[in-house]
Amino acid sequence: MFDPCITHQYPTPVEPVFTGVFLFPMHTVADYASGMFAMDAETDRKPGALTGRRPTLSVAPMLDWSDRHCRYLHRLLSRRAVLYTEMVTTGALLHGDVVRHLRFNIEEHPVALQLGGSEPAALAQSARLGAGWGYDEVNLNCGCPSERVQRGAFGACLMAEPALVADGVKAMRDAVAIPVTVKHRIGIDAMEDYGFVRDFVGTVAEAGCETFIVHARNAWLKGLSPKDNRDIPPLRYGVVQQLKRDFPSLGFHVNGGITTDAQVGEQLEKVDGVMVGREAYHNPWWLASWDARYFGDTQRPVTRESIEEAMVGYMEREAVAHGTPWYAIARHMLGLRNGLPGARRWRQVWSDHRLKTEPARKVLAVARGLDEAAWRLPEAARS
Ligand SMILES: Cc1cc2nc3c(=O)[nH]c(=O)nc-3n(C[C@H](O)[C@H](O)[C@H](O)COP(=O)(O)O)c2cc1C
Repeated sequence: MFDPCITHQYPTPVEPVFTGVFLFPMHTVADYASGMFAMDAETDRKPGALTGRRPTLSVAPMLDWSDRHCRYLHRLLSRRAVLYTEMVTTGALLHGDVVRHLRFNIEEHPVALQLGGSEPAALAQSARLGAGWGYDEVNLNCGCPSERVQRGAFGACLMAEPALVADGVKAMRDAVAIPVTVKHRIGIDAMEDYGFVRDFVGTVAEAGCETFIVHARNAWLKGLSPKDNRDIPPLRYGVVQQLKRDFPSLGFHVNGGITTDAQVGEQLEKVDGVMVGREAYHNPWWLASWDARYFGDTQRPVTRESIEEAMVGYMEREAVAHGTPWYAIARHMLGLRNGLPGARRWRQVWSDHRLKTEPARKVLAVARGLDEAAWRLPEAARS
C-alpha cells in the first residue's frame, strides 16, 4: 500500500537507460514485470491507467511549476488526479536533453506528457519517446498564447489550423497506444463565434482525439502577456458545456478559474472533468480532499506534517541520486500551510537562502521551530 507517511517505501526515481535508439527509463520493462513497483491495485497509479475510465480531476500543465518535484508533492496529496508535465517542445525533445525533459518519478502515475509542436512527424516521434518513458497520456498544447510559442507556430495559434492539428493527432495516435488528448482555448483573439471552436473540435475528433481539455477563455495572440491571457479574456464555461452537448461521446474537461469544491461540483454535473492549475499550485492542500470527495476513496490519514516529512525524504533521495538541492523541490510546497497560524514563518524558512547549504532535515527542524537557533545565527556563525 502506498502511504505518504512512510518515506522509505518509495522506489528510486526513474533512471534512463540507453537502448540504442531512444533513452527509456529503466523501470519500464523489467521492473514492472518483476512487480518491484507494484502499486495498490485499487488506485490509478499504474502505467496505462488512463486507457479505461478517465479520472475526472487533473492538475494543469504549468511551465516552470509542474515539474517532477511539484508532481511528486501533488501525488502525495492525491493518488487519483491526473498530473500534467510542463509543456515540452518537440524541438527540445528531439534535439535536446531527453533525460532532463522526460525523467519522472514512478509514483507520479497517472502522468501526462504535454507536447508543444505542430509538425506531425516530430509530434509522432516525441509521443513515441513519451510512451517509451512510461507516460500515460500525450497531450498537445493548442492553448499557449506566448509570442515565443507563436513564433514556433504552435500553441494557441494552432486553433486556426484544425487540419494540421488533426494530422498531428493522427500521427501521434498511429505512433503510440496511450491516449492522445488536446488542450485548447475556446477561440483566438476577438473570435467569439461558437462555430470556430465547434469545427476545431469536430475536425480534431475525426483524427481520433477523444478527450479535449478546454481552457474556457479566448487566447488573445496580440497585446496580452501569457499571464494576462490567463485572467483578462472572460471565462465562458457555457461554451464547454455546449461542446459536450454537441459531441456527447467525446470527453470534455473544463479548465480556467476553478478554485473551489462548489465550482468543481457544478462543472462535473455538466462536463466530464475539471483541470485545476494555479489554485492547485498555490494551495496544494486542497488536493488532499480530492480522492475522498471525487473518487470515492476512503479518507487517508495524511496531515500537512506527514506530507512535509515525506517531501524531506524525497529531497534527501533526490540530493543523493541527482544532486538536486532541497530548495528546487521545496519551492513547490510553500503553499502547503496556507491559512494556518505560522504559515508565513514556515514559508520563510523553506525559502530562506541562508539555509541553502544546510541539509533538508535541518531545514525541517528549523521550519518546525525545533532548531530556532540555527535560523537566528548569522551565516558566519553557523557550522
Ligand atoms: C506558471 C504557469 C505556466 C503555465 N504553463 C502552461 C503550459 O506549459 N501548458 C499549458 O497548456 N498551459 C500552461 N498554463 C496554463 C494552465 O495550464 C491553465 O490553463 C491556466 O492556468 C488556467 O487554469 P487555472 O485558472 O486553473 O490556473 C500555465 C499556467 C501558469 C500559471
